[in-house]
Amino acid sequence: MSEYGYRRKKIMQAIGEKGILILSSAPEVYRNGDALYPYRQNSDFYYLTGFEEPESILVLAPSRKEGEFILFNRVQDKDKEIWDGPRAGQAGAIKSFHADQAFPFSEFSAMLPALLAGREAMDITLLLHEMRLLKSEAEIAVMQKAVDITDSAHRRAMQTCKPNLYEYELEAEIMYEFQRQGARYPAYASIVGAGRNSCILHYVNNQQKMADGDLVLVDAGCEYQYYASDITRTFPVNGKFSGEQRAIYELVLASQLAAIQTIKPQSSWQAAQDVIVKIITQGLIDLRILKGDLTSLIEKQAYLPFYMHKSGHWLGLDVHDVGLYHVNGKPRPLEANMVLTVEPGIYISGDIEGVDKRWHHIGVRIEDDVWVTDTGCKVLSANIPKTISDIESIMAS
Ligand code: GLY
Ligand code: MN
Ligand code: MN
Repeated sequence: MSEYGYRRKKIMQAIGEKGILILSSAPEVYRNGDALYPYRQNSDFYYLTGFEEPESILVLAPSRKEGEFILFNRVQDKDKEIWDGPRAGQAGAIKSFHADQAFPFSEFSAMLPALLAGREAMDITLLLHEMRLLKSEAEIAVMQKAVDITDSAHRRAMQTCKPNLYEYELEAEIMYEFQRQGARYPAYASIVGAGRNSCILHYVNNQQKMADGDLVLVDAGCEYQYYASDITRTFPVNGKFSGEQRAIYELVLASQLAAIQTIKPQSSWQAAQDVIVKIITQGLIDLRILKGDLTSLIEKQAYLPFYMHKSGHWLGLDVHDVGLYHVNGKPRPLEANMVLTVEPGIYISGDIEGVDKRWHHIGVRIEDDVWVTDTGCKVLSANIPKTISDIESIMAS
């Protein structure tokens, strides 16, 4: 609660006495009929309140005499609470969530004109998102916990995997480990793609049988106490990399390790991307998948059919977290306490022309979550098996 209070204070200082912040909770969303999706609070709302109920509105009105932090939320309702469980109500909003004042949600419209009187319109989304981009010690600790749970999930998937399982069976192993450890939901739909599906970047169908000889790409991360982890590991369904799979895997791994080396204050995600592009392009030349010289192939972006995304993204309350990627038209310099993913990949689908068949349907992505420190970086997910020998040995165990 003290950290939410600190964040509110900081944002109120920034918006000043003429400003006001008004933020709505996430809506409840029906999945079908009268069945709702599991409720998930809006990340900005949660960041400033820790309040998880729907039908809520947060108002921050700096220097308002009657109170600066106002919560409009659901009233307590005996009948509804019999079905859906307890609600904080207005007393709880004040006592447990430290609101200065709390009112029923239904009173918001009537109170709005008075709240707005003398205040100016401004968009503080950017400001709020810049705050979210730099993580506190407490946030890093929760993110490490999310990664640690995801670590056991990926290990479990590797140990369970064998030919003729369905992709969803691996997904189930992953979900079991998440939930068993208190992470009720994944931070995004788990991607479990074997064989040709490993080349579909956000494949979430997960219904194919996994064949002996295929690679399986598992991009799965839990959400723990609202914070995302986002990890990809790729491994052979039968536990042993083939020659071609090994060659592509080693190449992606080399590019990922080199990219992680670039992560430090004053560097940028673009530096990571440049290193990845260079190593992947050179590697594809060495394997005779691309023909030509390095510089002109990079200029022509000849790697794009194989590597068509960026090096990674900010990570936090949202998996693709908030915060600008460019400032003054240039890739943003990294700063201590940003967290980002580093996730190069090579995807050789069956329909890239001129590629020998033996490379087809090899899709490899390796993704880690990286915390920028004062002096360099710390890979939060460093313990998750990643080298070929570590993967083969855990799969054999
Ligand atoms: N799992 C989505 C991503 O890696 O960005
Ligand atoms: Mn990612
Ligand atoms: Mn991912």
